[in-house]
Amino acid sequence: MSKLWGGRFTKSTNKLVEEETASIGFDRKLASQDIKGSIAHVSMLAAQKIVTEEEKDQIISGLNKVKEKLEADELEYSIENEDIHMNIEKFLIDEIGPVGGKLHTGRSRNDQVATDMHLYLKEHTEILMELVRETQKAIFKQAEAHVDTILPGYTHLQRAQPVSFAHHLLAYFWMLDRDRERLQDSLKRTNISPLGAGALAGTTFPIDRHQAAHSLGFDQVYPNSMDAVSDRDFILEFMSAASILMMHISRMSEELVIWSSQEFQFIELDDSFCTGSSIMPQKKNPDVPELLRAKTGRVYGNLIGLLTVLKGLPLAYNKDMQEDKEGMFDTVDTLEASLSMLAPMIETMMVKTSNMKQAVSEDFSNATDIADYLVTKGLPFREAHEVIGKIVLYSINNNKYLLDLSMEEYKKFHTLFEEDIYTVLQPVEVVRNRNSYGGTGQEQVASQLKEAESALLK
Ligand code: ARG
Repeated sequence: MSKLWGGRFTKSTNKLVEEETASIGFDRKLASQDIKGSIAHVSMLAAQKIVTEEEKDQIISGLNKVKEKLEADELEYSIENEDIHMNIEKFLIDEIGPVGGKLHTGRSRNDQVATDMHLYLKEHTEILMELVRETQKAIFKQAEAHVDTILPGYTHLQRAQPVSFAHHLLAYFWMLDRDRERLQDSLKRTNISPLGAGALAGTTFPIDRHQAAHSLGFDQVYPNSMDAVSDRDFILEFMSAASILMMHISRMSEELVIWSSQEFQFIELDDSFCTGSSIMPQKKNPDVPELLRAKTGRVYGNLIGLLTVLKGLPLAYNKDMQEDKEGMFDTVDTLEASLSMLAPMIETMMVKTSNMKQAVSEDFSNATDIADYLVTKGLPFREAHEVIGKIVLYSINNNKYLLDLSMEEYKKFHTLFEEDIYTVLQPVEVVRNRNSYGGTGQEQVASQLKEAESALLK
C-alpha cells in the first residue's frame, strides 16, 4: 500500500517497524476529536480563501461520512496508515477523491495530534469533574445521616478521640473538593490551541489560528509554534491532579476495607460491591475498594512514565511523544471507572452505628476530656496531663474504663473532681464539646454540612 508520505522513499517499511511504530492500535480513541479538528481547520482554510467554499463543503461532508462509517464499524483501520490522523485522511480520500488531499494544507500531524490530545483531555477532564462531584454527593448524603453517629477517631491507628462519623466522612468530601478544583485549574492549560503551529515553525499560508481555535472552543492560542507542538505539560498536569485524586480514593478505600473487617465491623458494603471466595463459604470480600487502592499504582506509573519520556527531549516534536497516549487514556479510563464505582458503593454501604458506639465506650478516647476538665477547674494543662496519665494506667491495671471509676477513686487522684465528670466523659458529650470551628462537635458539623452543600454547587 502506498504511504501518504511515500514520495521520498524507495523501499517499503520493515514489517516489524511498521507494527511497532504504528499508534492506530490506541490512538483510534481520538477519532472524533480528529474529525472535529479537521472540520475546524478546513473551515478556517475556506474563510481565508486557501481552499474554495466548494472544496470545503466536499471535505466536510466527506469527513462526516467517514465519521458515520466509523461509528457503524464499516471501516477498517490499517497499521500501514500508522495512526488515526493518516487513517482518517486516507478514508476521506477514498470517500471523496483527490480533493480530500487539500485538507492537510497548512497543517502537520504535529499540531494535529496535539490538538486532538487537547480536545480529548478537555472533554474527559469535564466528565471526571462531574464524577468527582457525584462522589462528593454520595459522601455528603451519608454524612447528613450520621452527624450523631459517634465512632473512635484514630491517630497512629490507635484510638485517639471520639468523632462524629459525618465529620470523618466529610474529611474525604473536602479532599475531593480540592481535587475537583485542581482539575478545573488544569483546564486553563488544556484549553489552549496548538492548531496551525504546523510541523514546528508555522506555515506559509495566511491561516487564522485564532478563528480555528475559537470554533473548537479553545480560550487561547499558543503564542509559540515550537512550544505548541512539543508541550505535553497539560497532560502531566492532568496526570498529577489525577494521581492526587487517586491517592485520596485509595485512602478512603483503605478505610472501607478496614471498617469492613471482622475486627472493626463498622460498616458493611452492599453485596453488589463484594465477592465471595471459591473455597471459604463464609467470605464476603471488599474487592472493589481493594482494587481501587491498587489501581492507584498505574495512575502514578503513567505520570512517572510520561515525565520520563519528556525529560530529555530536544525541541520540537519527537516520535517519543507518541508515548503520551496510552498512559493518558489509561489514567482517564481508570479514574472514570473508579469514581463510577466509588459513588454508589458509598451510597449503599450500611453503617453499623451500634458497633461504632460500643467501640467508643470501650476505650480511653475520652482521656483528653478529663484533662481539659481539670484545666477548666484551674489546673495547668501539663499537670492535668500527668494526673490523667496515672488514672489511665490505674484503670488499665484494674480492668476499668474512665466511666467505671467511682468518685472516691477520682478524688484519690485529684480533689478537683466532682460528679459532673460522668457527664463530661460521655462520648456524645466529648464530641459535642469540640465546638471550635472545623471541629467535630455536632453543631460545627451541621454548619460544615452547609458549607459542603454550597461547595457542591460550584
Ligand atoms: N502518531 C503520532 C503521535 O502520536 C502523530 C504525530 C506524528 N508526527 C510525525 N512527524 N511523525 O505522536
